[in-house]
Amino acid sequence: MPDIFTITVNGRERFSCHDDQTIIEAGQQAGFGFPVACRNGVCERCMGTLQSGHVQQRNHTIHAGDADSIQVLYCIAQPLSDCEIDVPEVTAPGELPSHEVHCQIQQIEALNHDVSRVWLQLPAGKRVQWHAGQYMMLNLNGESFPFSIANHCDGRRLELHIRHGDDNSAAQDIMAHLTSASTVSATLPAGMRFIDSAPEQPVWFICGSTGFAPVKAMVERLIALDFDHPVRLFWGARTPEDLYLPTLPSQWKMALKDFDFTTALSDIRHPDHAEGLVHEAALAALNEPELPLFYLGGSPPMAWAVFDALVEEGVPAGNIHCDVFDYAPRE
Ligand code: FES
Repeated sequence: MPDIFTITVNGRERFSCHDDQTIIEAGQQAGFGFPVACRNGVCERCMGTLQSGHVQQRNHTIHAGDADSIQVLYCIAQPLSDCEIDVPEVTAPGELPSHEVHCQIQQIEALNHDVSRVWLQLPAGKRVQWHAGQYMMLNLNGESFPFSIANHCDGRRLELHIRHGDDNSAAQDIMAHLTSASTVSATLPAGMRFIDSAPEQPVWFICGSTGFAPVKAMVERLIALDFDHPVRLFWGARTPEDLYLPTLPSQWKMALKDFDFTTALSDIRHPDHAEGLVHEAALAALNEPELPLFYLGGSPPMAWAVFDALVEEGVPAGNIHCDVFDYAPRE
């Protein structure tokens, strides 16, 4: 019987590898995407650093502690122990490769008094994919700014919803740049909270303001998947004027088998909307026989507050997803 070892990749993900397999063979079987070319120890495309453990690389036994930085060719390396490896550009199962691209700024349109929709076009000839619910980084003046992608991947167009109110000078600077330039640098995709295949349970979305953007992408993905479990949307704002794309949820009601939505206003009473914070409306409605998956969209303080409220209500943390948890961890 071959020995089986655990390979930890880039400190995050793990897979099992028999001692008679190369690390790349086992990683690919587990769904990892390794950079490879020759697969024969020649091109060095698969080279990475052995952080801990021992491997057999053809006739050489290599130990992680032998030098400061031990470089290994994983297409010909077989483990002799559990190993921790660092490999640039490796993708975990379900993860898509990240690209830095120059996008054309195609169109900017106002969606309400302080939210604009920006349409970007990806370059032709470069296949860039993302999962619904992922975000991208806009690279401007040496800084990178995360924005959720508001459409699911069905072509070269990227949709962003940018709120640029008086209280957000950074967003105003970004909008000033986007309105005066013809292209912008972006890195995408990013984030591990997404919907690619259809979940086997209800899906509830709770979002505030432009946290609606990733929700829109995920609902569109569920429509494309002909999803037939219940889908609920709870969208919160301060006033009716802060909401946008008002007819879209009604269209989704026609496109999905079981969809309903609630809008909640925190600052004023209005007969067409629930009163109070958006997650309060969601918790009041929580009587599904099957516990839903929750996807949250909004600012980091809002997302973490909703997370806490759901957990307090007995929702397992593993059922709650939000891209904010990746780029704005709780302090
Ligand atoms: S893929 Fe060429 S050396 Fe590994």
